[in-house]
Amino acid sequence: MRHFISIAETSIDDLNHLLEVADRLKAQYKTTGRNDPLLAGKVLAMIFEKPSLRTRVSFNNAAIHLGGSGLLLRDEEVGLDSREPTKDVARILSGTCDGIMARTFAHDKILTLRQWSTVPVINGLTDYSHPCQAMADLMTLREHFGSLQGKTLAFIGDGNNVARSLSVACGKFDMPFILCSPPGYELPRDDVDRIMSQVPRMDFQRVVDPMEAARRADVLYTDTWVSMGQETEKARRLKDFAGYQINADLLSAAPSHAVVLHCLPAYRGLEISDEVMEGPRSLIFPQAENRLHFQKGLLAVLMGGQ
Ligand code: CP
Ligand code: NVA
Repeated sequence: MRHFISIAETSIDDLNHLLEVADRLKAQYKTTGRNDPLLAGKVLAMIFEKPSLRTRVSFNNAAIHLGGSGLLLRDEEVGLDSREPTKDVARILSGTCDGIMARTFAHDKILTLRQWSTVPVINGLTDYSHPCQAMADLMTLREHFGSLQGKTLAFIGDGNNVARSLSVACGKFDMPFILCSPPGYELPRDDVDRIMSQVPRMDFQRVVDPMEAARRADVLYTDTWVSMGQETEKARRLKDFAGYQINADLLSAAPSHAVVLHCLPAYRGLEISDEVMEGPRSLIFPQAENRLHFQKGLLAVLMGGQ
């Protein structure tokens, strides 16, 4: 694999390999406090059109732990398609850096970076998808359950970038996926059709009632109801999503072994209660830490010859 733009276009062999390398580098780091310098002297350019904590820190520190470095480029300075064309930025960074990670609003910009870049390009979230998040999530679930096959993940909330990547990830790893959204916030029909054509065997269920979704779930997952860029829709969204909070009541409808994930940042009291977030069934903070470990696997494979 040369780039990591989407889970759909990454083969299951490559996805399994990424998880294996990530697990190995995590174990090495946990037992010895260091990693082999697989990225010695290499620089990952990190372009951000939107805010970030986890993605920025995890890529930066993954590169450092592997002997390389991350270079933060805020869009205020790069100006993708405003200061200069994205295709020019791709060629400049290809000549000066060893990899490009970008977080953009429009998904097309990631595709343009890939088209014009001669170094690996990584999707660090777009309005359309968030594949690095979904893979760190599966890494977390595999650590917890031992295997992924047959585990049902219920995404309760907005049919957004995170839901889209998770649905494909679940499909690829033979996990039934339930999307539980209020009417009008499901993934668009076209997207579901595309996902079903990319992963034809996948079990994709749509449910409106959160209690029904919870009863069938091994994993309850949620994300903000107001994604970056949707701030003007906040009042309407908070009204439309009422009743879709993951709280103790909802969790009590799920099997007793069910766990809770959230990609973060979380808005306690909206999509998730403080009690559930801090409770014993939450894997949310190990999940966030695994962004670092998955990112290491990704950089080691794309830029470190693994
Ligand atoms: N989950 C996630 O991508 O977090 P950041 O927006 O802080 O990077
Ligand atoms: N859906 C959220 C995810 C944040 C990591 C957003 O796009 O803002």
